Amino acid sequence: MAGSSGLTLRPMTSADLPGVLAIERQVQFAPWSEKLFVDGLERGHDCRVAADDGGAVYGFSVVQYILDEAHLLNIAVDPGSQGKGIGRRLLTALTEEAAGKSSSTVFLEVRSGNANAIRMYQMAGFNEIGLRKNYYPAPQGGKEHAVMMALVL
Ligand SMILES: CC(C)(COP(=O)(O)OP(=O)(O)OC[C@H]1O[C@@H](n2cnc3c(N)ncnc32)[C@H](O)[C@@H]1OP(=O)(O)O)[C@@H](O)C(=O)NCCC(=O)NCCS
Repeated sequence: MAGSSGLTLRPMTSADLPGVLAIERQVQFAPWSEKLFVDGLERGHDCRVAADDGGAVYGFSVVQYILDEAHLLNIAVDPGSQGKGIGRRLLTALTEEAAGKSSSTVFLEVRSGNANAIRMYQMAGFNEIGLRKNYYPAPQGGKEHAVMMALVL
């Protein structure tokens, strides 16, 4: 139930993975495996956590850099701590990092039904640039569109 102010944003380490995975498995219909997070750390992606002084993880983000593009691969906040500004802090930090690296654009994809996330991205200045139809697996064997969004830095 953490608010944003008592948390520190810092690089993710392997010691954070249990907390990261616990969040991922609660918030995603098709969660990343532990291996995907390990690969992200090993490949030098910008992996961050929002954590308290005791090491408890409340949110995380994963960004892959490809040439001058930053791709937001994953971002999530613990369900009990959503709506308190943690997601916005993570998003601001990663876009500032991308700008500092002279990236031209931050790209992401989001489920078309994920209104909270789409609202957060729009508030941060992201625009919709396309739609991948029936891209994500959805409950009851259905599919959900992916909205492609970009923030030009
Ligand atoms: C999307 C997510 C990361 C946002 O994190 P959060 O900490 O809850 O968001 P914040 O409290 O920082 O809110 C940021 C903005 O998001 C939007 N938002 C967040 N929760 C919202 C809600 N319940 N209703 C409406 N808008 C909401 C608002 O625009 C908000 O800004 P505002 O408070 O100035 O209105 C979080 O909801 C989450 O983990 N969701 C599940 C995983 C997920 O969908 N990840 C994104 C995949 S692309």
